[in-house]
Amino acid sequence: MHKFADIFDDKDFLWGSGTAAYQCEGAWKADSKGLGEWDYFNHHSPLNINHTDGDEASDFYHHYQEDIDLLAAGHQNTFRFSIAWDRILPNGTGKINQNGIDFYNNVIDYCLQKGLEPNVSLFHYDLPYQLALQGGWLNRKLTDYFADYAKICFENFGDRVKIWVTINEPRYYSYCVNIVGNYPPNRRLDFQSYFQYQYNLMLASAKAIKIFHNLNMDGIIGIVHDNGNVELAPDTKDKARVQKLSDFFYNREILCPALLGKMPDETTEVVQAFNCLLYQTDQDEQIFADGKADYLGLNLYNRQYVTDWSTGETAVFHNNQGKQSTAKEGIRLQGLFESAFDPDVPRNQWGREELPRVMYTALTEINQRYHPQLIMITENGHGGYETPDENGYVNDDKRIALTKDFLKYLLQAKNEGVPVHGYYHWSPIDLYSWINGYEKRYGMIRVDYNDHFRRIPKKSYYWYRDFIDQYFAGR
Ligand code: BG6
Repeated sequence: MHKFADIFDDKDFLWGSGTAAYQCEGAWKADSKGLGEWDYFNHHSPLNINHTDGDEASDFYHHYQEDIDLLAAGHQNTFRFSIAWDRILPNGTGKINQNGIDFYNNVIDYCLQKGLEPNVSLFHYDLPYQLALQGGWLNRKLTDYFADYAKICFENFGDRVKIWVTINEPRYYSYCVNIVGNYPPNRRLDFQSYFQYQYNLMLASAKAIKIFHNLNMDGIIGIVHDNGNVELAPDTKDKARVQKLSDFFYNREILCPALLGKMPDETTEVVQAFNCLLYQTDQDEQIFADGKADYLGLNLYNRQYVTDWSTGETAVFHNNQGKQSTAKEGIRLQGLFESAFDPDVPRNQWGREELPRVMYTALTEINQRYHPQLIMITENGHGGYETPDENGYVNDDKRIALTKDFLKYLLQAKNEGVPVHGYYHWSPIDLYSWINGYEKRYGMIRVDYNDHFRRIPKKSYYWYRDFIDQYFAGR
């Protein structure tokens, strides 16, 4: 791993926040950007239930300087964002769009000018539409297209970007695309595609990592996984089996290749239990072995809480329903396991568990089982409906209370020796939510969509600034 020490020595801990291109940039047709799968879906599909899109999003494309200024004034020392593949390569492959390169050069340079270490994701759900037309991630050719695109990014930005992410949440992305069916192309309960999608994404990630290492790039590269730990409901009967199946389903198809450089030993057994078959080649073992991540990014929102589901039907419950939802989330898999419901855990307005202690559980468990050299929390935050006062100011005590608790558990894990050296709050500004449009607000800075995208820091923005100050004062 190159320059690991250089990145962390002078900063000790990276405190920042993160975004993703489609969710904040807007400018969906500006400067020769190509069409994305999400652009197409949001404009054409009846399954776009919110009738919103990312055409303008939070207009980060035109507000990036203002946003980066605010992050710097909030004493953050890093900023996570993603590159839109279709800004760099409008068709996903082939001709480079220099305007796209220029835009990200400007963002990177401005971050560095303001003392923010850029942490750049190459892929955060936004596939170029031309590649969706070729079957998306079910098409193995995309693993090479992605590696080519990654190389272009390393060559153009790698002199200044020292922290990279290949792919954001391959597992959750595949889950929404292939099982819940609320991300394009909206396949439902398609387990064959679920496993294959993740597998191909992991191959793509490994190929990009190998290129990064072969180019001897000056920095570190990792992958981002969601959540990370499984917990069994106490009345689970066949604990060992439920643990094995669900842990593969939720974690190990990602964590093993990413951190250990190989697919889990139980792959065939579990995939066959789902009546599925992974399409692999003889070269894959070597690709994974050559493409281990330098670090793990963890997007930590909650746990995977499961129990047995023996005889009932297979079903999926739509996630992220909103409006004070108490509906069940998750899945039921006949003869395998189901998502369990814990009545003792408080939930947010979207029915998601609020359980900050899982920050500690996931970090310590992953550390014990996979021994990563470095972990960063690449997302953690709170989404809710919010009402500003007459000046647009939001008193988000709820976000502050939850974040404080999550960070208490993060620091506990760190103090006990877990190599966690970064935290990115999701998100700095309000932005588009894939399923909930603009209703659900995650930002520490409010975006007034009715007033020229005006930025108004919330109470949590100032709280986070003071928290960072106290952290460094107490070192
Ligand atoms: C993460 C994604 O899974 O969750 C983000 O990486 C996303 O892109 C975040 O916005 C919150 O999800 P949601 O669906 O509540 O907006």
